[in-house]
Amino acid sequence: MSAPRKLFVKTYGCQMNVYDSERMTEALGTEGYVATDRPEDADMILLNTCHIREKAAEKVYSELGRMKALKEVNPNLKIGVAGCVAQAEGAEIMRRAPVVDLVVGPQSYHRLPAMDRAVQGGAKALDTDFPEDDKFDTLRARPKTHRAPAAFLTVQEGCDKFCAFCVVPYTRGAEVSRPADRVLHEARDLVDAGVAEITLLGQNVNAYHGHERGLAGLIWDLAEIDGLKRIRFTTSHPNDMDDALIDAHGTCEKLMPYLHLPVQSGSDRILKAMNRKHTAGSYLKLVDRIRAARPDLMLSSDFIVGFPGETEADFEATLDLIRTVEFGQAYSFKYSTRPGTPAAEKPQLPEDVMVDRLARLQTLLTQQQHKVQDDMVGRTVGVLFEKPGRIAGQMIGKSDYLHAVYADAPSDVLGQVRAVRITTAGPNSLGGVLVP
Ligand code: SAH
Ligand code: SF4
Ligand code: F3S
Repeated sequence: MSAPRKLFVKTYGCQMNVYDSERMTEALGTEGYVATDRPEDADMILLNTCHIREKAAEKVYSELGRMKALKEVNPNLKIGVAGCVAQAEGAEIMRRAPVVDLVVGPQSYHRLPAMDRAVQGGAKALDTDFPEDDKFDTLRARPKTHRAPAAFLTVQEGCDKFCAFCVVPYTRGAEVSRPADRVLHEARDLVDAGVAEITLLGQNVNAYHGHERGLAGLIWDLAEIDGLKRIRFTTSHPNDMDDALIDAHGTCEKLMPYLHLPVQSGSDRILKAMNRKHTAGSYLKLVDRIRAARPDLMLSSDFIVGFPGETEADFEATLDLIRTVEFGQAYSFKYSTRPGTPAAEKPQLPEDVMVDRLARLQTLLTQQQHKVQDDMVGRTVGVLFEKPGRIAGQMIGKSDYLHAVYADAPSDVLGQVRAVRITTAGPNSLGGVLVP
């Protein structure tokens, strides 16, 4: 047998790309590729890209610029671009960066083995179709027999919401759900390989309709799997939080008390211009209902500052919403103009205004995050231990609320959920002791 070829994959963007990178690596396994974390050793480099903000897309081109040197050292090296930039820009990527041999969109990566054979023959390969055949039908079962304790599992892709700022409906296409039986099958494979926690992924995961009772129905079926200890899901849209899902947060023990629920803005005028189809008030009511079902639930959100037309009063409304909700975690961004989206046509706010608002927003969000972390001290929480820490005898895991937790523990806690009493809160992690 010939020596295995080496594949280096670099992943940008959201968790869905993390999952896709793993599936692409597995797909190319059939062509004799094994993963490497050293680009200079690779026979193929795949950049799995993100198009969500201008900076994310531009990063890809600067990375491709650096790839030229690697190709000079190893002329047989093949370079591929996958993910949302591939979908959005297609053949333009090869024009702008002639080092690129292969461009594959997120719905076509089951065709990577055939594309690899084409590029090995010296051709360029491009596939950004939204094919009729489902990539998950073609991709073989998950081949790895040993896995890390926490895994992602994509159950839903695409988006029909068309928020005025967002490229996802264009790069990922219309909303599609995987049938529940396939998801359950994949989940069992993951658990058999050592997985204790599954995070269900989708651009709008709570719009999932591959189960007759929606995402809640899928969660309840997953909860039946022995050995699966924890279930999470992300990202949800406020308008798709149905009663059954809210109820599951109160009643399904394996569903973790953490919810990422992007709101984007606290101003109704801006929410309308964003085409979010919810108001600040309806979001706050929803939060109340979710917290009534699960009082200790940790909320996280996404915010955009400086959306076209945002006034100081609109921005203040966002700060007010944050003060009312108290988020344990949040991601915030300056608005970035995305060609082809409706908001790109509108006059843009000055950069200095956006920079100032982002700083003020982040100051408030960081204060809340630290308060929530400080409040964990003295509490006993479940921690799924995932890996050894850098200090001997120390293990690192994630709490029920998704905080990183360090504790002195024997290595046999790896892969287990153990009770930990939190003793210290740092800026990015908590420290604790195992409860015997
Ligand atoms: N499907 C998810 C997340 C999509 S992208 C949802 O509906 O919430 C993740 C986050 O990126 C978004 O929630 C939004 O806050 C941010 N984002 C998307 N487009 C953006 C843009 N053009 N400029 C700045 N931030 C953006
Ligand atoms: Fe983008 Fe809006 Fe869809 Fe989220 S819901 S992916 S922000 S269009
Ligand atoms: Fe980026 Fe595509 Fe995810 S644009 S955020 S990688 S869906």
